[in-house]
Amino acid sequence: MSDRYGVIGNPIAHSKSPMIHAEFARQTGQDIIYTAILAPLDRFAEAVTEFRAGGGRGLNVTVPFKQEAFKLATRLTERAALAQAVNTLKFEGGTILGDNTDGAGLVRDIRDNLHFSIEGKRVLLMGAGGAARGVLMPLLAQRPTSLTIANRTLEKAVALQEAFSAYGNVVASSYPDLQGRQFELVINATASSLHDEMPPLPEGVFAPGALAYDMMYGKDLPPFLCFAEQQGAAYLADGLGMLVEQAAESFCLWRGVRPSTPETIFLLRG
Ligand code: ATR
Repeated sequence: MSDRYGVIGNPIAHSKSPMIHAEFARQTGQDIIYTAILAPLDRFAEAVTEFRAGGGRGLNVTVPFKQEAFKLATRLTERAALAQAVNTLKFEGGTILGDNTDGAGLVRDIRDNLHFSIEGKRVLLMGAGGAARGVLMPLLAQRPTSLTIANRTLEKAVALQEAFSAYGNVVASSYPDLQGRQFELVINATASSLHDEMPPLPEGVFAPGALAYDMMYGKDLPPFLCFAEQQGAAYLADGLGMLVEQAAESFCLWRGVRPSTPETIFLLRG
């Protein structure tokens, strides 16, 4: 019988994860079934228990359940503990292992697919919510010169600076205070693209050769990437590569084999 995996969220109908994991399974010859599971907003833990009872081996967790998954896990990887959010669950006997592959997915996309080295670069991370927190440690592990966190609500950026300063040179900033500063890598980890908006970024922040990265993806270029293009950012990228890379990290955790991601990204770009 095939091993069962899935992605759990609310809403979930438009998730690309079943297609991505079906492609990974085909490529690697792994015998798995991967489905999308809609959990009622107030019944996440019950939905996970039901999936496990039915023989489920692991789950990807998406909006809005990543914090609940963090609480449900009985063992955490270091990166999940720091992120305080879990996007991957692995069921091993009585243990529920919680991992967070989002940051590793982002770093792999930037480094391996876009061939952009983070080491020695000035990085600007916009946003101080769960999405930003989830990618901080893997970004810092790449040893940027500095990592500036900008947020409308400054206190949240300051809290992240305090929580992560042991891992690198982390600085909190308001958006107006970015005026006159430049960065080689600017990442949008805010929820602004969801509302077709962009963060209040001053002009002139893109250093020569800069990469502008939006963690969201969609049919159209998000407002932040339109702005970056107008501002002369050298490279633009949306979050589709990150989506595929975080999926590959999860697949690897579950199955012990790494699928080929460039092919899958190409397939999804259609
Ligand atoms: P997520 O888990 O997606 O990070 P979240 O924890 O609700 O969601 O955090 C949303 C983030 O997007 C916050 O950093 C928020 O900024 P504030 O803390 O100042 O509210 C940011 N955000 C949302 N809409 C934004 C916009 N239009 N411009 C700038 N930042 C925005």
